[in-house]
Amino acid sequence: MVRQDRRAPFVAALQQARTAAYPPGEYVGQESFMRAGEIRQLVGRARIGPGVYVLDLCCGVAGPGRMISAELGCQYLGLDHSASALVIARDLAGDLPCRFEQAHVPPLPNQQFEVVLLLETMLAFPDKRSLIEEVARGLTPGGRFAFTIEDGRPLTASERARMPDADTVWLIELAELTALLREAGLTVTWQQQCSASHHAIATALLRSFRTDSAHIARQIGTKALTELISAHELWCDWLGSGRVRKFALVAEKPLGEVRASR
Ligand SMILES: C[S@@+](CC[C@H](N)C(=O)[O-])C[C@H]1O[C@@H](n2cnc3c(N)ncnc32)[C@H](O)[C@@H]1O
Repeated sequence: MVRQDRRAPFVAALQQARTAAYPPGEYVGQESFMRAGEIRQLVGRARIGPGVYVLDLCCGVAGPGRMISAELGCQYLGLDHSASALVIARDLAGDLPCRFEQAHVPPLPNQQFEVVLLLETMLAFPDKRSLIEEVARGLTPGGRFAFTIEDGRPLTASERARMPDADTVWLIELAELTALLREAGLTVTWQQQCSASHHAIATALLRSFRTDSAHIARQIGTKALTELISAHELWCDWLGSGRVRKFALVAEKPLGEVRASR
C-alpha cells in the first residue's frame, strides 16, 4: 500500500484498473485488498446496524464507509490525515449521513463509539499498543473494534529496502496483537483468515496495473507507477508464500460491572 499525498490523481488514474481487478460488485471504492463481501461480513460481526455510532479510522476516500452508511443506516464519522482523500470522500458521499474530519490518529476524538473500524491500515502504525489503548478508551461498554491485520515477523532490513514507503509497513504477529488487545481490556470474539482472498485481489490488481500502465503513468508519473507495481509484487509474493497472513477480527469491550441484585 503506497502512500499517496495527493489522492485525486491516484484515485482517477487507478479507477479503471481497480474496477477491472475485483469480481463483479466487489469494488466499492476501497483502497485495499478487501472485497465488498468481506467488509459486509466484518461489519455484520461487529453488529453495525441502524443508528449504531461508528468511527472509521483511516477512512481514506471512504469506499467502505459510504457503502455501510448507505446499506446499514449507521451514524458514521470517518477520520483520515489526508485532506485530499477527505475532499473526495465528502464529494462522493453526497447526501449520505456521513461526517468526515481530518485528524492524525492517535489520539481518537474525545467521545465514545459503539464500533471503531480500522480497515487495512493497522500496518501503518509502528506503535500498536498506543493505538489499541486509545481504541479501547474510545469504545462504549460492549463496544466493538473491527479491523484487519497483516500478521508476520517484522520486515528485515533487506525487505524494508525493497518496499516503497516502508515507513508505513509495520507487521505484527497475531499472538502479539491479541496480547495487546487483552491488555487493553478487549476480547477477540471473531477472527477469520483472509490471506488467500487478499492474495487473489493483490494478484488481480498487479495484473490490472500492468495492463493499464501507460494510462496510469500519464497521470501519476513513471516513478509512482514503478513504486505501485513494486509494492504489489511484494504483497503478492508475501501473501502467496505465507510470509504475511491477513486476518479480519472483532474485539469487544466488556459491558462493565453488573450490579448485584438485592
Ligand atoms: C490503505 S488506505 C485504507 C483506506 C480505507 N480504510 C479503506 O479500507 O479503503 C490507508 C489510509 O490511512 C490513512 N492514514 C494512515 N496513517 C494514518 C494516521 N496515523 N492517522 C490518520 N490517517 C492515517 C491514509 O491517509 C490512507 O487514507
